[in-house]
Amino acid sequence: MVQRLEGRVAVVTGGASGIGLATVRRFASEGAKVVVADLDPASGKAAADEAGGLFVQVDVTDEEQVKALFQTTVDTYGKLDIAFNNAGISPPDDDSILTTGIEAWERVQKVNLTSVYLCCKYAIPHMQAGGKGSIINTASFVATMGAATSQISYTASKGGVLAMSRELGVQFAREGIRVNALSPGPVNTPLLRELFAKDPERAARRLVHVPLGRFAEPEEIAAAVAFLASDDSSFMTASNFLVDGGIAGAYVTPL
Ligand SMILES: NC(=O)c1ccc[n+]([C@@H]2O[C@H](COP(=O)([O-])OP(=O)(O)OC[C@H]3O[C@@H](n4cnc5c(N)ncnc54)[C@H](O)[C@@H]3O)[C@@H](O)[C@H]2O)c1
Repeated sequence: MVQRLEGRVAVVTGGASGIGLATVRRFASEGAKVVVADLDPASGKAAADEAGGLFVQVDVTDEEQVKALFQTTVDTYGKLDIAFNNAGISPPDDDSILTTGIEAWERVQKVNLTSVYLCCKYAIPHMQAGGKGSIINTASFVATMGAATSQISYTASKGGVLAMSRELGVQFAREGIRVNALSPGPVNTPLLRELFAKDPERAARRLVHVPLGRFAEPEEIAAAVAFLASDDSSFMTASNFLVDGGIAGAYVTPL
């Protein structure tokens, strides 16, 4: 494995599962010191141990806990180079606007959008102190494309992540801090597999829109995050990095 992240210090929120876990592994294999930040203490600690890093139990919606997460990182490893703000939820009660209640709406906004605001707010001063940094915020392809199978708060939250990342990328560009949004297409996670195994028609309805004809593996998304975290992407900031199997570019897909 190339060692693009040798000596770098990275925080990964939602690092206990899925895209976050694959990224923790990828960052460590490229030489980074990784702080795994997650609600889930068992899987979070296991991920950190595997990566030779540190686990910090944190609820990313809690301002004091997020502030402490980045302070603990700097206290432990001396600096902060990379923040992958990735924790997110997509609960079943977030659905059509006609049936989604205000409680579900607000819960999703808090976990998916307010958390990214908090993580950027408390990561950036440490990066300013070091004179550089790379922030990657997980949005989604639904930030730029509409779905008739709505998850209204999720979609709106990811649109917010995209716009906020762009603005921060512009604001802090001359301080050596890059901020990019990562927009994955559908990823082959346990949740998605279970959902689609139960309902093949539901899977087919989505797969028909993917030119590559399959969902992404978490490792394929992690490879893109490592690129955005590393100096290989040194001229990229304020961008929307789509890793979507071609979905956003497609009209008619191959049979
Ligand atoms: N899986 C997909 O198809 C897909 C597609 C596009 C975007 N995304 C986005 O990618 C990100 C990761 O998704 P995933 O599929 O890997 O999810 P996942 O459910 O496998 O992992 C999410 C992790 O976040 C943690 N988490 C949830 N709420 C938290 C909180 N309040 N504080 C701290 N940690 C919290 C969970 O404990 C879990 O470990 C999310 O932002 C999601 O919206 C996923």
